Amino acid sequence: MSQLSIEPLHGDLGGRVTGVDLTSQLGDETVEMIREAIDTWSLLCFPDQAMTDRAQLAFTRCLGEPEPEHVHFGKTGEITYFGTVGNVVDEKSRVGNDDLSTRYQKGNQLWHSDSSFRLVPSFVSIGHAYEVPGEGGATEFASMRTAYARLPSELRATIDPLQVIHDYVFSRSPIAPVDPNHAASLPPISHKLVRTNPRNGEKNYYVGSHARSIVGWSGIESRGLIDELLARATRPQDIYAHHWNIGDTVIWDNRCLLHKGADYDADRWRRLMRQTRVMGVGPTLEE
Ligand SMILES: [Fe+2]
Repeated sequence: MSQLSIEPLHGDLGGRVTGVDLTSQLGDETVEMIREAIDTWSLLCFPDQAMTDRAQLAFTRCLGEPEPEHVHFGKTGEITYFGTVGNVVDEKSRVGNDDLSTRYQKGNQLWHSDSSFRLVPSFVSIGHAYEVPGEGGATEFASMRTAYARLPSELRATIDPLQVIHDYVFSRSPIAPVDPNHAASLPPISHKLVRTNPRNGEKNYYVGSHARSIVGWSGIESRGLIDELLARATRPQDIYAHHWNIGDTVIWDNRCLLHKGADYDADRWRRLMRQTRVMGVGPTLEE
């Protein structure tokens, strides 16, 4: 059994975990410790992992059902489990700032929770850094759990029973065109605005760039509330910025965290990260 050692990264979220090799075959007790740590810390960084795609998918399966990558699936109907973040094509070539895939990835620079626009949204994302830019390219995280706990009690009472519509086409089409097949595969869906972690009872709200409107509220009222909740979760002091090192494997809890990518100069640097996700339990309206 591994002995996990966890050091905090930020007051609201995040732990740096040493003492475990994620590429080895993990025993049930170690997997359970990692699950508990996800529930407690919301984000775990495992430095110096000698990761491969094969090992990452095996580890992803330890935590649950891998989530099919929605962009490729939406366009072609083919199931794959990896998303690639960055601009690397192969060992010799990369794309720059003007490339469509770089532009498309700019959508990740808005606060969001991965796959919040899916009927069964993501539990966690797992990212591994193979190449990192010399400047920029951090990922910023903020907790909607601690933000919920900070809300005035009247606002908590207001939002507790609400439902929120998340809509991928709403959030992404202003940034880059969404392929029609992809758009058709992701109709707007409703979630509970306030979610509860089933293992520790911690509550959080669930917004981000994909959150379009509140069920039964006008557009103006909806945007006012969603924008307020987002602002309350992402004050500068609430943010943990992860500056990636090569070999970092980071797991984050999409049920309760927001994240966004910081810009980097794709004309100047290479960046390569591989990302998998674990499906959550849902639909959330049935949680
Ligand atoms: Fe993301």
